[in-house]
Amino acid sequence: MGYWFKVLLGTVAAASVLVTGLLIVSRLSSEPSLGRKLVLALGIARPAVIAHRGASYLAPEETRPAYLLARELGADYLEVDIQRTKDGVLIALHDDDLSRTTNVADVFPGREKDTVNTFTFAELQQLDAGSWFNRQASDRARDSFRGLRILRLEDLIDIAETGSHRPGLYIETKAALRFPGIEQQLVTTLTARGWIGHIESAGPARVIFQSFKPESLARFKILAPEVPRLLLIDEVMLSEAGWESLLKTASEIGMGIGTWGYRWAFGPQWSVKDAPTRYVMTWPRYTGQAHRAGVFVHSWTIDDRWEMWMVTLNGVDGIFTNRAELAMVAYSRSEPIDLDKLWSRIGY
Ligand code: G3P
Ligand code: CA
Repeated sequence: MGYWFKVLLGTVAAASVLVTGLLIVSRLSSEPSLGRKLVLALGIARPAVIAHRGASYLAPEETRPAYLLARELGADYLEVDIQRTKDGVLIALHDDDLSRTTNVADVFPGREKDTVNTFTFAELQQLDAGSWFNRQASDRARDSFRGLRILRLEDLIDIAETGSHRPGLYIETKAALRFPGIEQQLVTTLTARGWIGHIESAGPARVIFQSFKPESLARFKILAPEVPRLLLIDEVMLSEAGWESLLKTASEIGMGIGTWGYRWAFGPQWSVKDAPTRYVMTWPRYTGQAHRAGVFVHSWTIDDRWEMWMVTLNGVDGIFTNRAELAMVAYSRSEPIDLDKLWSRIGY
């Protein structure tokens, strides 16, 4: 055996021992039992697999096939960003405007950067919300994505109520301040559909509300106190308010906190200066503290297998992921998945 090969072998062995040690310390210090008790009491799977904008790695985000696929994969929750049209229809859309995910520039020239609340639902129904995906992700493109329509909340509820699994809904109030009264409208709609307000029949935690805006969650707390709420946090909030204060807010007005995960640590914007805030938010220091404060932790957006394992070792109670198809296998919730079979079952 050559000298350099031995050096390499020794280095790998030492690194493995170090990583294993860190994982064990991490596991022991994160007090996962407290988080487990909390989410068990709420009836939330642990680790929860939250299909972020649906199965959005494989299909155009927040469209019918993305949610149908996530449902058939067995994801615990379908994540959705809810906004409202000019004529009051609740719809699923992430961005403020329609320019990234539709052909608005062709259909309504000059209105590309107008916010979605300036469009009627009938206008939105003229847009193609699927072809952009085929151009951007040509390796995952499908003819059936062409001409997909923007979904209403009611359509999403229909999707969640049929098929092989019954996922919950993880609903974000997007730009909550631009849509006064949206919390009441959501609660009214979900109550009318039997998703909240009749806990015995609906089952616990079928709905979780999430927002970056504490004031939106505070309104949900008054309107539907039994429904879990999660405060999403980002770097700006962290630098302005600080972790302790955000955790206190999450504890007072919510039941969960949504920290960001590992992915950004290695993204194009990574820098050593930012590493402490970009990298560590799922670490046991934070998850343990959250659990001690009676708050569960769902982290976003976790798309690699190693990240999935790492964050759960750190005590995180669930993940928002674009890759529900990976998460279900990584967490041993599913046998290897036959995607062709699922596509054919949902008709796309
Ligand atoms: O909703 C969970 C988290 O991903 C929030 O970020 O921008 O994807 O809604 P965004
Ligand atoms: Ca969201």
